[in-house]
Amino acid sequence: MTEAAGKVSFEDRTYDRFELNPIAGALGAEIVGVDVNNLDDETFDDLYAAWLQYQVLAIRDQKLTPEQQKEFGRRFGELQPHVFNKSIEGHPEITEILKTENETLNNGGRWHTDQQYRPEPAKMTMLYAHEMPPHGGDTSFSSTYRGYETLSDGMKETLAGLKGINNGDSKNHPSGLTRMERQKAGVGTIPQIDPGDAVTISEHPIIRTHPETGRKVLYVGSHTERIAGWTKDESAALLDYLKIHNGQLHHTCRIKWEVGTITMWDNRCCLHFALNDYHGYRRRVHKLLIKGDVPF
Ligand code: SIN
Repeated sequence: MTEAAGKVSFEDRTYDRFELNPIAGALGAEIVGVDVNNLDDETFDDLYAAWLQYQVLAIRDQKLTPEQQKEFGRRFGELQPHVFNKSIEGHPEITEILKTENETLNNGGRWHTDQQYRPEPAKMTMLYAHEMPPHGGDTSFSSTYRGYETLSDGMKETLAGLKGINNGDSKNHPSGLTRMERQKAGVGTIPQIDPGDAVTISEHPIIRTHPETGRKVLYVGSHTERIAGWTKDESAALLDYLKIHNGQLHHTCRIKWEVGTITMWDNRCCLHFALNDYHGYRRRVHKLLIKGDVPF
């Protein structure tokens, strides 16, 4: 990893402290041969570099208690409790996403980036798989670096300076219900709580710069409901186009889970989409978030 003019370059970067298998052309790598409960500093530095380079890492064969998951998470930054999702007993920073064999709606089944509606959206999300269906239930990721880089110069100029308004609780959810309406109706895979005074609608640049790599991204996902200064109708056509553009298949990779897999992704440069193709089976993961910066 080299640094020049505030940008990090990964040219010629190799990793010899663990096995790293890239899983797609755009982003994503599988890591084998580490125990995250026993990582020396050099191996952690390599893992961090690999995470910045590949945006999504799936680390196989881990055994984590909630306390150990938090300890590993803290090596990446400050843990950020979820403002809407109820946490598990004794661990305010961890939420459990459980879809049972009787449920049909899943959590996260749209292209989104976590906490985009917060003033300082999450830098990283880390999921740890406790139960998985025999097939299905993968998570897809899409590189928003690619989303930006594949726009025309004309579109890049049009978007420069525009801001998106990101709402954490709109009726755009596939159920057509707000979070509390879902909670009251008993719909959903995570119990919801009242966010109190927490800010849950935030304005951020549509073209965002990654604070560590210096690269630009197209920062538009399902929480983005309007362009600042434009009406909802005026925004709709452009935002719909940008959302489809960001999620194009050649910008993506897909993680196939196993019990014991940790998947951690960089919300500053990718979207994710939890596939809902395993009705009749249970899927249970523990999620934690690492706090990020104000997007610029
Ligand atoms: C999420 O959207 O954070 C959940 C992703 C998943 O369960 O795969």
